[in-house]
Amino acid sequence: MQIQILPSLLAADFGRLADDIVRAEASGADALHIDVMDAHFVPNLSFGPDVVALSRKVAPGFYRHVHLMMTRPDLYLEPFANAGAQTIQIHVEADCDIHAELKRIRGMGLRAGLVLNPETPSDAVFPYMKECDEILVMTVHPGYGGQSFIAECLPKVTAIRRRADALGRAGFDIMVDGGVNGETGPQAAAAGANQLVAGSYLFKQSDMAAAVRALRADCGRSVASAK
Ligand code: DX5
Ligand code: ZN
Repeated sequence: MQIQILPSLLAADFGRLADDIVRAEASGADALHIDVMDAHFVPNLSFGPDVVALSRKVAPGFYRHVHLMMTRPDLYLEPFANAGAQTIQIHVEADCDIHAELKRIRGMGLRAGLVLNPETPSDAVFPYMKECDEILVMTVHPGYGGQSFIAECLPKVTAIRRRADALGRAGFDIMVDGGVNGETGPQAAAAGANQLVAGSYLFKQSDMAAAVRALRADCGRSVASAK
């Protein structure tokens, strides 16, 4: 399974967002992870659809992966889809009909992702695995970049990987987000994650491309030695 690396725009320089989107694309990363926060589901505000549209404008070929940390993501699916989101992720803890909203995201021709917070058990997402294209296991409490990786979340990655295999979905996308760096990324890959979101670790690099290549390679080796 290919390891994919997604820089999180939350760690970009907000005074130079367009430049940092272009920089992330030029690094050879697989997609741009855009964190949307509503100051209700999490105690912070971040981006709206205009930032998704900006990334489509300045880097049209760079896949746009939108993580909605919102209590009512159902009210905002269309604006984000119209702005160019290609994957939309909603939280299983959100206050909406998860089955219906995953279906609606797919119905718009997008990939549907489901996210679970550190305190949410893996079996909370099991009922939805047929209706989503990927699961994101948060490895920090959502709301802010730059926090430390919560390694206790990794058994959930392994449990979800086993469940996906049992459902006959080999290669199912499982992602981790929060505190990912050169040390924790390979741990997540060994646990069964194939997509890694990394914000502060990647954006602080003077050579983001080298860091993306190294992280991908280290994760690949970690998967091989875990087998
Ligand atoms: C946290 C966000 C993350 C965040 C990760 O609420 O969902 O995507 O940007 O940032 P780092 O990699 O700095 O922990
Ligand atoms: Zn995120």
